Amino acid sequence: MKKIGVLTSGGDAPGMNAAIRAVTRTALYKNMEVIGIRRGYNGLINGDVFEMNARSVSSIIQRGGTLLFTARCPEFKEEAGIMKAVETCKRIGIEGLVVIGGDGSYRGAGDLSAHGIPCIGIPGTIDNDITSTDYTIGYDTAMNTVMELVDKLRDTSHSHDRCSVVEVMGRRAGYIAVNTAVACGAANVLCPEKEYDLEAITNKMLATRKLGKQNFIIIVAEGIGHCDEIAKYITEKTGIDARTTILGHVQRGGSPTVRDRVLASQMGNYAVNLLEKGIGNRVVGVRGDKLVDFDIQEALKMQKEFDDDLYQLSDIISI
Ligand code: ADP
Ligand code: F6P
Repeated sequence: MKKIGVLTSGGDAPGMNAAIRAVTRTALYKNMEVIGIRRGYNGLINGDVFEMNARSVSSIIQRGGTLLFTARCPEFKEEAGIMKAVETCKRIGIEGLVVIGGDGSYRGAGDLSAHGIPCIGIPGTIDNDITSTDYTIGYDTAMNTVMELVDKLRDTSHSHDRCSVVEVMGRRAGYIAVNTAVACGAANVLCPEKEYDLEAITNKMLATRKLGKQNFIIIVAEGIGHCDEIAKYITEKTGIDARTTILGHVQRGGSPTVRDRVLASQMGNYAVNLLEKGIGNRVVGVRGDKLVDFDIQEALKMQKEFDDDLYQLSDIISI
């Protein structure tokens, strides 16, 4: 392959820039041309593209967001949209594509591969809800952001003997919630993978308050929702003043951690190595310390185990 494209799609994640940088510079190192595609699949459909050089990705490794912008593109889910994207690739001479995004973006990459444009997916989402990899780019940074913010909340919550009900991101997954619950010493964690019992939670709060526990952090994954109602219930049942904080999109921003920068750099490099060999319709992942790749359709069918031990641990050590 002599010319490849790169795009970011779906929700952004810190470390996407580091991945774009690695893709671009690895490709240039291999004497390939690199085309940056703006706003996900929209850029392919509309021809919103530009030629990248080594300086196009200068000073971005430390920046959150994505220099290529990102978007959701419903038009790309239709055959007509895909055909427009294929035409753009043919017109510009894009022979292969690196798609950085979540599993929706992987589906698009699978469709494009089936239409003759070999694509490699790189997992970029803070939710860590991609089954074909242990870690996604952005997950570590988002968790560190949550941890910093919850630590601040704890200061004020402790001073007022309150309970903080904190909603963290994760519409369909509780990875951020469970890990940050352990890291922040939360009294409870509510996530989509597990049933929860508010009565048991408030009983535990009352029992531990008797033992001198002053403040409570309850982490709630976005997929559970109802934080205000949960806080109201807690106050009614326990008499402890419970307040809600929704952390929201602040979790998606900020300078990526070392882990995310390194992972993104390795995955970007790995993706180009596959394309160079003419390999497409694959996604990159990490298993343990090893980079791996899978067929896109196989990857989309994989299951990821919920870490029950960690979930239990957060309960055991929060008395
Ligand atoms: P993420 O990649 O973060 O999971 P989305 O699910 O919003 O985010 O998907 C991002 C984009 O990927 C969509 O806007 C669409 O352009 C494309 N996409 C999603 N699902 C499909 C699909 N089934 N077929 C083709 N393209 C898809
Ligand atoms: O990036 C993942 C995620 O943050 C989810 O946790 C959340 O549900 C979703 O994206 C929200 O994205 P947006 O607000 O951009 O639609």
